[in-house]
Amino acid sequence: TLINVEPFLTLIENRDDLALQLKEKYSLKDIFVVRGDADHNSLVKEELVRLMAGELTANLLNGTIVSVAGGSTMALVSKFLKPKHDNLLFIPARGGLGEDVALQANSIVSRLAEATSGEHRMLYAPDSISKASLELLKEEPMVREIIDLNKRSSLVIHGIGDALQMASRRNVTPDVISKLENDNAVGEVFGFYFDADGNVVHKVDTIGLQLADLKNKDSIFAVAGGDGKKEAVKAYLKLAPENTILFIDEVIAEHLLG
Ligand code: G3H
Repeated sequence: TLINVEPFLTLIENRDDLALQLKEKYSLKDIFVVRGDADHNSLVKEELVRLMAGELTANLLNGTIVSVAGGSTMALVSKFLKPKHDNLLFIPARGGLGEDVALQANSIVSRLAEATSGEHRMLYAPDSISKASLELLKEEPMVREIIDLNKRSSLVIHGIGDALQMASRRNVTPDVISKLENDNAVGEVFGFYFDADGNVVHKVDTIGLQLADLKNKDSIFAVAGGDGKKEAVKAYLKLAPENTILFIDEVIAEHLLG
């Protein structure tokens, strides 16, 4: 029997027309748009990550240091990354954000290293300790190394999340939820929550990459798909530096153009 693959082929097509229009509106390093809505079809999310992994592979050199954020989107990257280079080093962008282990940057970097026969480092910095303990932890050599590597990394890969969805997935306290609601937080990237104007309204107290570090990187690979993330992505583009390479799906692209 013949299987009709047509619907799948149409699904994973790129919408280069939308990407072109977006490039006129936003000054980013590059923009990729995949057909569909990741909230309704998991293949769309996979395709976004596959595209991103291809671009990332093309940007890797021997010895490249990559800062890696957590989340379900980043958790797919190792599936598509090709082991074409030597001595790659993957490091967690930030310490604990309250995520499930499988979605934590620590787990993701170990899988990326395995996929590319590269190296990784772990960052043991929980998000639930006092400011004083966090300051002490920053003096630990292993932690200092991660802070330093996040300053030196040339590439960053991260997802973009809806603020309240991320907060509830991470089981944050009710006072943080109220703060996010009162300050109209709409989006989140590696522990930084921001409003529709791109102002950071809350950040998880942990160690690692800061938003201000992004402008010093060669490229930042930001990936997000699904209708539920459209406001988050729109807001993020108000603070994303020009060296960002954006990977989004059609439903978000149309919202950005609307
Ligand atoms: O930090 C997590 C991201 O901002 C979004 O997570 O890829 O699971 O949607 P996600």
